[in-house]
Amino acid sequence: SCFLFAKPKDFPVLKNDTFLRAARGQQTQHVPVWCMRQAGRYLPEFKEYRAGKDFFDTCRSPEACCELTLQPLRRFDFDASIIFSDILVVPQAMGLEVQMVPGKGPTFPDPLKDPEDLQRLKTKVDVKKELDYVFKAITLTRHKIEGKVPLIGFTGAPWTLMAYMIEGGGSKTQSKAKAWLYRHPAASHMLLKRLTDVVVDYLLGQAAAGAQALQVFDSNAGFLGPQEFKEFALPYLRDIARRVKDRLKETGQDLPMIVFAKDAHYALEDLSQSYYEVVSLDWTIDPRSARERTGGSVSLQGNMDPCALYAPKERISEVVQKMLEGFGTQGYIANLGHGLYPDMDPAAVGAFVDAVHRHSRRMNSD
Ligand code: CP3
Repeated sequence: SCFLFAKPKDFPVLKNDTFLRAARGQQTQHVPVWCMRQAGRYLPEFKEYRAGKDFFDTCRSPEACCELTLQPLRRFDFDASIIFSDILVVPQAMGLEVQMVPGKGPTFPDPLKDPEDLQRLKTKVDVKKELDYVFKAITLTRHKIEGKVPLIGFTGAPWTLMAYMIEGGGSKTQSKAKAWLYRHPAASHMLLKRLTDVVVDYLLGQAAAGAQALQVFDSNAGFLGPQEFKEFALPYLRDIARRVKDRLKETGQDLPMIVFAKDAHYALEDLSQSYYEVVSLDWTIDPRSARERTGGSVSLQGNMDPCALYAPKERISEVVQKMLEGFGTQGYIANLGHGLYPDMDPAAVGAFVDAVHRHSRRMNSD
C-alpha cells in the first residue's frame, strides 16, 4: 500500500467527539448513537434525491454521496455519520460487474462459479485509482460536515464479499458460497486473501481521505458455523485490523475500528481479541452476557432489534432503557442490531436517538 498520508489538518475542528471517546473506552457524558443504514429509503428526501438515478452511479458521485450522508444529520441528533456507499464497490474494483436491480437488490450478471473463474479477477488492483471516487466522497463530506460529528468509513469483510461474488446476489442459504468452503478450501482461501489485500488498501485510502473510524461489515458471518468462521472469516478480520493499524501507526494516525459479524454469537470472545476497539452486535445477543463474555476488553455497539422501531414512542423508550441498563453507559455506542428498513417511520428514529441521549444522561447523573 502506497498512500500518501497528508495529515488532514485543513478539516474543520470536530465539535462532538462522544462517538470516538466511547469507541476508545473513554468516559462520555451521554451514550453516542447512530444507525446502520441511516442514509436510506425510510427518508423521503433520500428517495427524492435518488429518484431515477442508478444506485452505483450515485455511489460514484462524490457530491451525491456527500448529500446523502448529510441528510440524516439534518433531521436527527446522531453522534456519528457513515459515508454513503456500498460494500459491493470492492468486487467491482476487482473486475466483477454488479448491478442494483430495483426490487431485487444487488445482482452480479456473471458471478464466480468455479475456482477457474478467479482468473477473471484483476491480479493487481489499483485501489487508489479504482475507488478514488469513494476517497473523494469522504474528503468532500468531511469538509461539508463541518466537524459536527465524526465520519465513519466502511468495507465489507472478505467472507461476506466472497459470498456475494459467488451467490451473485442475496441468498437464503448461501449454499453456493458455502459449497466453495467445503469443496474448494484452497481456492476459497486464495480468494479471501486477495479480498483482504484489497480491503486493507481500501481502508487505508479511506483513512487518508479523512475517515475518522472504520467499520468492517461481515453481514453474512452467521451463515457459518463456529469451525468455518474460525477458518474462513476470523483470520482475515484479524489480519485486516492488524495490517491497517500497523500501517496507520507508522504515519501517526490512530482510528478506532469496529467489527460487525452479524449472528456470529459463538465468536464473541474471539472478536473481542482481534485488534478492533469496538465489537458491533446484532439483536440476538443479550447485552449483559455480551459484556461478561468480552470482559471489558472492547467497547460494544448495537444492538436494538430494528423492528422495535415499529413500536410506539413510549415502548421504544422502554426498550432503549433496558438496553442501556444491560450495556451500561460507558464504552458503549447505541445502534441497531442491523440496518433500518425502508418502511420505517423517521419519527421512530428520532424517538430512538432522543431516548438514548435522555436515559444515558440521567443514568450518568444518578
Ligand atoms: O447509511 C449507511 O449505512 C451507509 C450506506 C450503506 C449502504 N450500504 C447504502 C445502501 C452501507 C454501510 C451499506 C453496506 C452494505 N451494502 C452491506 C453491509 C451492511 C448490511 O446491511 O448488512 C450490504 C450487505 C450491502 C449490499 C446491499 N446494498 C444490499 C443487500 C442492498 C439492499 C438492496 C435493496 O434493494 O434493499 C444494497 C442497496 C443499498 N445500499 C441501499 C442503500 C441506502 C438501498 C438501495 C437504494 O438506495 O436504492
